[in-house]
Amino acid sequence: MPALLDTRSTGRLSLQAQSGSRSFLGGAATPTAGFNQDYLGPTIIVKNGYLAAEVTNALKSPVSTHWHGFLVPGEHDGGPHLPIAPGKSWQPEMHVAQDPATVWYHSHIHERTAEQVYFGLAGVIHITDGDDDARGLPSAYGVDDLTLVLQDRRFDDAGRMIYDPSMMDVMHGFAGNYLLVNGQAGATAVVPQGIVRLRLLNGSNARIYTLFFGDTRPMHLVATDGGFLPAPIALDRLSLAPGERAEVLVDMSDGGAAVMMSDPAQPYGVLPFEVDPALPVRITRLPDKLDGVLEDLAGSEVQTRLVSLDMGMGGMMTGGGAFAINGRPYDMERIDFAVAQGSVERWRIRSTMVAHPFHIHGVRFRVLSENGAAPRPENTGWKDTLLVPGEAEIIARFDQPARQETPYMFHCHILEHEDAGMMGQFTVT
Ligand code: C2O
Ligand code: CU
Ligand code: CU
Repeated sequence: MPALLDTRSTGRLSLQAQSGSRSFLGGAATPTAGFNQDYLGPTIIVKNGYLAAEVTNALKSPVSTHWHGFLVPGEHDGGPHLPIAPGKSWQPEMHVAQDPATVWYHSHIHERTAEQVYFGLAGVIHITDGDDDARGLPSAYGVDDLTLVLQDRRFDDAGRMIYDPSMMDVMHGFAGNYLLVNGQAGATAVVPQGIVRLRLLNGSNARIYTLFFGDTRPMHLVATDGGFLPAPIALDRLSLAPGERAEVLVDMSDGGAAVMMSDPAQPYGVLPFEVDPALPVRITRLPDKLDGVLEDLAGSEVQTRLVSLDMGMGGMMTGGGAFAINGRPYDMERIDFAVAQGSVERWRIRSTMVAHPFHIHGVRFRVLSENGAAPRPENTGWKDTLLVPGEAEIIARFDQPARQETPYMFHCHILEHEDAGMMGQFTVT
């Protein structure tokens, strides 16, 4: 498990973006970056209330720290308009006021996000209210409550992690030849003989996972990006696109070994699980109900917007570039949408060429439809990132403010697409 950084008693969070070095496969070392460590960052525990953060940049190039999933004003959001120069620090004083959820943080410098996240500038945040015992949910970090960051990475023959996207890699998103879980190749999860909670983050640049267990045991989805569901949903398969999180419960009480895999069509191993009977078993049955509240926003929208995630050569000829939204590549100087604070909007998202994982900063949304049909069960909860193969309609209330100087982003979370221009920005006033 990543190191823990518990902010609950102090209300303070101190991170340093720093360079590191790691030999991932036992061979040659790779220069990496991380927060407070060589690669990735600690798992941060926060509770609602005041949170004074300080992020120091000990790297040689600008970084930022975007809290992906935090519902905080644009000036605290850590997007491309909030770079931290080398040697400098950034001190957002935030008020966390949202439902318990697994969210994350990562650098977000325009045109550098893919590379910076790839080499390690990302980590997980648990927003917790301390009531998981009452919910009947596992909560012992690293014992029955595992945080799992899935990332594919490309290694050369010497074992060095490389990032050298070709034109094709940008088109398809940069894919790796090894799978890392929490920065480790060949990891195994050792768990108690009971119910285990997995907090999954797809921290890959582009790879979409379709997770399942080799022995077909179900995954019981309890939370999506923005918080708990009203009740667990049993799934045989779980799709997880870049930027998405899911919390699932898995029953390991049979004591047998199980392997989490991906891609039923062309399966590969993600993470083997081993039961250690000596580990304390705290939860032995699945909860029937949870306390997630899914507000029905449909019908209260005051605005409908179309968001076309454009990719292809057509745009280039019209000067629009190959990666764009609504025909226009990202421009830091242009505000694409002005949203009224407190209002509800319906956004119709349309993907071109491939399925794009669509993300909006500063809000959580509900999915109204996917390709004209009711959303898939795993997309019925609160989301901030949604894989759109075709078309989807989402609805959100934009409660948090974002001024013109520090607008919110909306973009494809295939990081190569985002960096290439498949991003827009909006104010909320
Ligand atoms: Cu995960 Cu714009 O961010
Ligand atoms: Cu985000
Ligand atoms: Cu995309």
